[in-house]
Amino acid sequence: MTERLDRLRATFERAGQGHVFRFVDRLDDADRERFLDSLERIDLSLLGRLIDELKHDRPVATLDLGRLAPPPMVPRPEGPGGRRKENRAIRAGEELLREGKVAAFVVAGGQGSRLGFEGPKGCFPIGPVGGTTLFEWHFAKVRAAGERYGARLPMLVMTSEANHEETVEFLERHDRFGLAAEDVFVFRQGMLPAVDAEGRLLLRSEGSLFLSPDGHGGSLGALAREGLLDELERRGVEEIFYFQVDNPLVKVLDPAFLGHHRLGQAEASSKAVPKRDASEKVGVFAKAGRKLGIVEYSDLPDDLGRARDDEGELAYRAGNVAIHVFRTDFVRRLTEGGLRLPYHRARKAVACLDPTGDSAAPTEVTGVKFETFVFDALPEAKRSLVVEASREEEFSPVKNASGDDSAATARRDMSLLFRSWLEAAGFELERGDAVRIEISPHLALDRDELVRRLKKERVLSAGRLLIEPEG
Ligand code: UTP
Repeated sequence: MTERLDRLRATFERAGQGHVFRFVDRLDDADRERFLDSLERIDLSLLGRLIDELKHDRPVATLDLGRLAPPPMVPRPEGPGGRRKENRAIRAGEELLREGKVAAFVVAGGQGSRLGFEGPKGCFPIGPVGGTTLFEWHFAKVRAAGERYGARLPMLVMTSEANHEETVEFLERHDRFGLAAEDVFVFRQGMLPAVDAEGRLLLRSEGSLFLSPDGHGGSLGALAREGLLDELERRGVEEIFYFQVDNPLVKVLDPAFLGHHRLGQAEASSKAVPKRDASEKVGVFAKAGRKLGIVEYSDLPDDLGRARDDEGELAYRAGNVAIHVFRTDFVRRLTEGGLRLPYHRARKAVACLDPTGDSAAPTEVTGVKFETFVFDALPEAKRSLVVEASREEEFSPVKNASGDDSAATARRDMSLLFRSWLEAAGFELERGDAVRIEISPHLALDRDELVRRLKKERVLSAGRLLIEPEG
């Protein structure tokens, strides 16, 4: 124990971080052991680089804002030509699914602080009628796709330190919503230490460092670290379908998207929905030279944000909805020898022990947290594709407790989407927002499947149908 302590102390002192041992003598054996374990997990060479970037206030290398141009996009299918292309993409995507070459990957490590829901966001009941939880909703889509294509499609779930145990317990209690245990992989995202403005590590308590999640970009590093890239490669999974837990409308494992990505020979592909207006606070896709990536709304120069193209549409309208397909071998390349994504710095008031004094009393200092963004992977791809999608059909995230992007708007948008499916199947529905509809992915994954099933099962002969009126 003393030997280990001495060795670690020397290493941290060399890195200019010897102060973290100030209180180590006050810890009992078990706490000291835990503390030393956590120090051993710190990547000091990465930390050294991040502190160097902080001290020199180095800008985070992303797209060159001076060279931006609107990105090429695969448009929504229109006319017979567009339909033919779309069908070709669907066939290519379906083939990948039938061959079991795709995994679904949901990131669910966030804190959900704006929503103010106790527990992991995935346990939030979102179904407009049945209160189906977000996890069940996504798992049902993966299971239904597995049944439709006769393949074992892995489901990867990234959690965080804060919600891992609860997530695992929830999924087990519900039998992983019917997915086989060997096809579900739940793993934690990484944590990074926070530092003060001088780059000194912060202590949360006498025997613990102040750590924070490494951002959704950490999901790619976690796949490598947890041995999941090996597992995916062993299974012959070539494509990873990435999405966020809080969007119930995501077309998980969408064959058309997978097909466009594959036929376009892309290493990374993304869905985009048109911005509502120039002021919507969403990152947009852009090109800078040969690189394609995302510019955050706060970084997009005002004049570009308002610029219009020849058709009178916003030139930078392709809003990021965090739905991507990554080739497994691309993620391998990006993570070999450590995750190669830029680390963004966020300054936030954090409660910790004063890094300069000897007092163990908690105080508030301005801490610097480091995090990575998954979309920073896009410019690293040899080929990256943006596929235009419909907001109404694919994006309505649950972020806030009320107002825009809340559970209320997501339930409304789910009901409106399902209403359009039922109408396509020939039903006439009551007008107005009051109608709540929930169509299980097990009944239909998309509109065409619903139409087919209702016709086949002779449920359908157009008429009036009111499903669960409000109140
Ligand atoms: P958000 O940035 O919207 O965060 O995450 P959030 O935790 O859901 O909500 P707030 O900001 O605390 O209110 C977008 C998606 O990325 C995941 C979240 O779980 C969500 O699916 N995420 C975010 C992670 O998995 N890890 C992170 O470190 C950050």
